[in-house]
Order: sequence, then C-alpha cells, then structure tokens
Amino acid sequence: MALIDWDDSFTVNVKQLDDQHKQIIGMINNLHAAMQAGKGRQEVGEIINKMVEYTRLHFSSEEKVLSENGYPAYNDQKRAHDAFTQRVLDFQQQYQQSNLVLSLQVIGFLKEWWTGHILGEDRKYAAFLNQKGVR
Ligand SMILES: [Fe+2]
Repeated sequence: MALIDWDDSFTVNVKQLDDQHKQIIGMINNLHAAMQAGKGRQEVGEIINKMVEYTRLHFSSEEKVLSENGYPAYNDQKRAHDAFTQRVLDFQQQYQQSNLVLSLQVIGFLKEWWTGHILGEDRKYAAFLNQKGVR
C-alpha cells in the first residue's frame, strides 16, 4: 500500500500543477518503499536527489504561474517553498554526509508537509487561477 494515495481532494484544477504534485507524491511513496525494502544508501540517495531536483522544478513552475497571474498570496507561497527547500537541502546534504538515516520521521515530515501544503495553501489558488483561465 502506498504511503500517500492521490485523491480528488488534492486537485488544484490546473493540469500541469496537479501532474507535478502527483509526481512528487509518487517520489515520496518510492522513498518510503525503498526504506521499507531496506535499499542501500546509494539507491535511496538517488531517489532523494531526484526528489529534491523535481521539487525545485515544481516550485519554480508554480511560482511562475502564480506571479504571472498576479496571485495576491504569492509571497506566502514563496516563503513556504523557500523554507521547505532549505529543509530538504539540509536533509539531502546530511544524508550525503552519512549523518542521517532515512527514518519514518523524515518520511512522515515529507508526507505531512506536502499533504498540508497542497490541501491548504495550494488549493487556495485553484479558483483564482481558473478564473484567469488557467486550468
Ligand atoms: Fe505551493
């Protein structure tokens, strides 16, 4: 069973961003599965690297759409993205330096952050963007 199951409550009604959120959730699920399967440091490290890279790509796509459309709470989004990016970069670095064991706590943090962010801050822009014709 996957750690996080996508359902319609996650939709932000913008295809590109929903697709990216699905990819990220898939990556967290992969990370969880790799941990449960006892995969080695290198393999887990690669999943972490891909996840960090994809997260940055996603944040820049989302920020671009929000800023181009004059989203009023853009700064809140940017702040949340920057704070999260900093945390995952620290986490990635610590993992690479072997100072961190991938734990359920780390995965739990990723799960809580993403589900909270998508269902909270991200869903708030859905109606705004749709009204601007972005879907
Ligand atoms: Fe966001």
